[in-house]
Amino acid sequence: MVEITELGYIGISVSDAEAWKTYATEVIGFELVEEQGEDDRFYLRMDEMHHRIIVHTDGNDDLEYVGWRVKSPKALKAMKQQLDDAGVDYRVATDDECRERHVLGLLKLTDPGGNPTEIYCTPRVEADRAFHPGRPLWGKFTAGGQGLGHMILRQPDPQAAYDFYTEVFGMDGSIEYKLPAPGGEATPWFVHCNNRQHSLAFGIPNMEKRINHLNIEYTELDDLGKSHDIVRHHNIPVAIQLGKHSNDKALSFYHVTPSGWLMELGWEGRHTPDQEEYYVADIWGHEMEAQGFGMDLEMNRE
Ligand SMILES: [Fe+2]
Repeated sequence: MVEITELGYIGISVSDAEAWKTYATEVIGFELVEEQGEDDRFYLRMDEMHHRIIVHTDGNDDLEYVGWRVKSPKALKAMKQQLDDAGVDYRVATDDECRERHVLGLLKLTDPGGNPTEIYCTPRVEADRAFHPGRPLWGKFTAGGQGLGHMILRQPDPQAAYDFYTEVFGMDGSIEYKLPAPGGEATPWFVHCNNRQHSLAFGIPNMEKRINHLNIEYTELDDLGKSHDIVRHHNIPVAIQLGKHSNDKALSFYHVTPSGWLMELGWEGRHTPDQEEYYVADIWGHEMEAQGFGMDLEMNRE
């Protein structure tokens, strides 16, 4: 079976491009890339890839598409067969569409939650151009073969999503939490495709947007701490305070992006364990603060 190798890129749409450029560079530390003749978008860079996030500037403040990587054109051909065998509709992208994404092979489909989904191979790597962060960083972003981070996506039928991502995309995972939540219990599902503990999660009910949060990680604790200072000094709402998750064991906090969905900044998540398990609380912290952003979960038992 061919397996997805990483969460390679995402496309988002934003209503306030200037706010996003300032936020992405000065709060997070992304490198801003603007290409000549592409006035309707800009790119955010985290490592030696040409980009990790494509920001469309005419949008409605939501996720537009998700790009999942396979290792080679041979693997992409085999993935087509897997999609055929599973009865999943897809379209082979045109040469122009491949050029638009800076990849050599591309399939377009939707996942069971209706999220526009792309599978690609052979992305453009700017090996000759060093990553230059938008603000000084002591370290880097944790990216490379681990992909850009992880997301929670809207999935009205989590079991269908789990079957799709595990049986068609070759990922693995489980429900990893049972948490008290307004109106009952939250049981989010987590799946992984490499040694990042999870690349995708779902099972948060009543999501208005396709995306609840994007997580990215720094390699250095001081960069996470500096981001926390900047978020606090700019009075950016924090939905979940600093704390440590039980599943990926990363130190993280969640704040509100200019588009109204959440960004989780983290440090030192552990690698994917060999066997699945579930938890009823986080290790410490992660107290709720600003509410109404879809993460009104009691992750701390005290
Ligand atoms: Fe997360």
